[in-house]
Amino acid sequence: MIRGMKASTAPLAAWHIEPLNPAEAPWPLLLSADPSREKVRGYLAGSTCFAARESFQREGQPPRPGGRGEVLGLCVLVALRASVEDGSPPAWELMNIAVTETLHNRGLGTALLRRAIEWARSQGAPRLEVGTGTFGDQLVFYQRAGFRVTGIKRDFFLKHYTTQLWERGVQHRDMLRLTLNFPSNSSGG
Ligand SMILES: CC(C)(COP(=O)(O)OP(=O)(O)OC[C@H]1O[C@@H](n2cnc3c(N)ncnc32)[C@H](O)[C@@H]1OP(=O)(O)O)[C@@H](O)C(=O)NCCC(=O)NCCS
Repeated sequence: MIRGMKASTAPLAAWHIEPLNPAEAPWPLLLSADPSREKVRGYLAGSTCFAARESFQREGQPPRPGGRGEVLGLCVLVALRASVEDGSPPAWELMNIAVTETLHNRGLGTALLRRAIEWARSQGAPRLEVGTGTFGDQLVFYQRAGFRVTGIKRDFFLKHYTTQLWERGVQHRDMLRLTLNFPSNSSGG
């Protein structure tokens, strides 16, 4: 969630976004957004995932599941069951979003984020939430999509991660909660 970015270098073939079986989610991608394998294990199995996938399998590449192209990026969503009070649809949290590092800045991340937003909205969710660091490009990434800061969890990354998380020479300590509300899905209208 809070790694730096390198320049895009790889050629980009035709790609599309489609649902992804969580069991097929590539671990290097998952860990590039959330370095805690334990945490990822905790939310992946019951999650809803989408992949940015090459539209065709490249010639000369080893066969992939279903004969489809490589997963170039992914996003992982989990229902916030605690948000259900009266049987209405739950809010959702974006737990992980990542794109192959050599393909950053080509629009795949934004397309995945849009799909996550559309999907949560289509489920009747009152809102989509995400937790991220308190500084860095990811704040622009989410706020450009309409997310607003709704909270801060002090010392979250110190308490919940065994490895220190650094970005541009600054250690991540606190987590910001960002929320995108879907007013048309809320009982208030
Ligand atoms: C965040 C991420 C998925 C964005 O994917 P992407 O395909 O590069 O995104 P897009 O090309 O659609 O948009 C690029 C924008 O995202 C911004 N961005 C968001 N998160 C970023 C990050 N962690 N590092 C660098 N840039 C990031 C860029 O600044 C860029 O903004 P600009 O157009 O003003 O320059 C990708 O940077 C990534 O996989 N990062 C590592 C994993 C991660 O940190 N995930 C969670 C973020 S909280």
